[in-house]
Amino acid sequence: MQFSANGQALAYLVSAILFILALKGLTHPGTARKGNYYGMLGMLIAIVATLLGAEVKSYGFIIAGVAAGGVIGGILAARVRMTAMPQLVAALHSFVGLAAVLVAVGTFLNRREAGMLNPVLMGELSAGIVIGAITFTGSVIAFGKLQGLISGAPVRFRGQHPLNALIALVTIALAVHFATTGSAVSLGLMTVLALLIGVTLIIPIGGADMPVIISMLNSYSGWAAAATGFTLHNNLLIIVGALVGFSGAILSLIMCRAMNRSIFNVVFGGFGGSGTAEASAVTAAAEKGVKSASVEDVIYWTEDADKVIIVPGYGMAVAQAQHALKELMELLEERGVKVLFAIHPVAGRMPGHMNVLLAEADIPYDHVLEMDEVNPEFPTADVVLVVGANDVTNPAARSDPSSPIYGMPILEVGKARQVYVIKRSMRPGYAGVDNLLYYQDNCSLVFGDAKAVCEGLVNALKGGGH
Ligand code: TAP
Repeated sequence: MQFSANGQALAYLVSAILFILALKGLTHPGTARKGNYYGMLGMLIAIVATLLGAEVKSYGFIIAGVAAGGVIGGILAARVRMTAMPQLVAALHSFVGLAAVLVAVGTFLNRREAGMLNPVLMGELSAGIVIGAITFTGSVIAFGKLQGLISGAPVRFRGQHPLNALIALVTIALAVHFATTGSAVSLGLMTVLALLIGVTLIIPIGGADMPVIISMLNSYSGWAAAATGFTLHNNLLIIVGALVGFSGAILSLIMCRAMNRSIFNVVFGGFGGSGTAEASAVTAAAEKGVKSASVEDVIYWTEDADKVIIVPGYGMAVAQAQHALKELMELLEERGVKVLFAIHPVAGRMPGHMNVLLAEADIPYDHVLEMDEVNPEFPTADVVLVVGANDVTNPAARSDPSSPIYGMPILEVGKARQVYVIKRSMRPGYAGVDNLLYYQDNCSLVFGDAKAVCEGLVNALKGGGH
């Protein structure tokens, strides 16, 4: 069976609609599963329609590629920890970038042999190669930083921005030269310089800004795919590339807004990730002294509360405490306590990290409030239980202009009557800065692993001790 050009165009249109429905579904936890199914169906239709198209001459390499990629992808998906998802996404973006470069170079060689090069095609190839190469090396560096293979600290040197601008200008000049002359030398130099830009663009960015960068690289990978779509005359690839390109760009802007930073500040700022801040936070904590509390103290305040707000963060994800939190919620609700969960847009290590984990534990969506909805609730909360969250609760973001996170909107947990923070030590969070919340009169720290402490609370409420 073979698809006619019209049949293929129709199938691509159906896929494109399904991808748009998938994006719409993914905008809310309640519809995310359905959105994923739309996306999978759209991708299945797209793959079948492509494989049955007239351009496919033999299936040997395709089957071998699908089998090898499928096995590797299956193993990775089954094994990856939720907390390692950002680096997996970075690695996958690098493949999209590399594929765009290889397709463009392959197309150039084929068309040159057939004497079918023209300036429009070569313009498209330039775009594919430049965006693809930047995405490739940029994503490899982001992967290395997130995986801890290279330092997460910003790498900066004098004259960095002018140097980057110069490399970018030379790359554009080479792209124009290539598009007008078809020079293979220009193509080679342009590729090398674009690969270099990917490195120089990402090395000055600190660990705390990596999520925004991952989302930006996601956007670049979309544009690289769209450029490949032009090269291959594949409308679906153009549409999907544009969807990914725009959604990645919009997500980057939303995340910047959540941190009260501009995208330029993120790209050129070199923020976060220094080890000295960590050391000074520990020293500062030891000097100032903070109150610590036991599971019994928490139970004493929580059992008779009217309203308890739970604030999950990265530590909850590491400890996998979400199921214990669900049980805790149920036990408190049995006692007539209203329980809410407060989610900061950058809590955890990737967008939606907390929502996914709470959904996995079947915590009802109507108990889960976003930052803007939940902040007015804190002043009337009797107890706030911060479970492995740190930076997203730090009042320094509001009161200390010298703090690296100054300006980032926070969950205003300090306004509640009593705050308990579950964490293992006085170590700071991701941004490496001291949390002023811990020194407030109404705040105590419950030291321990988030899961163990939450299970202790559950046992105590069940009357079983801990
Ligand atoms: P963080 O500020 O990173 O704080 C996490 C806290 O969890 C730490 O203070 C840590 O203290 C504690 N912790 C770690 N393991 C634990 C365990 N097993 N049990 C109990 N506590 C544990 O987390 P956050 O408040 O969720 O803020 C997120 C940060 O990550 C922000 O700075 C954000 O900009 C950044 N970031 C966000 C994203 C996205 S998109 N969400 C991606 C990358 C980075 P101890 O070590 O003392 O236990």
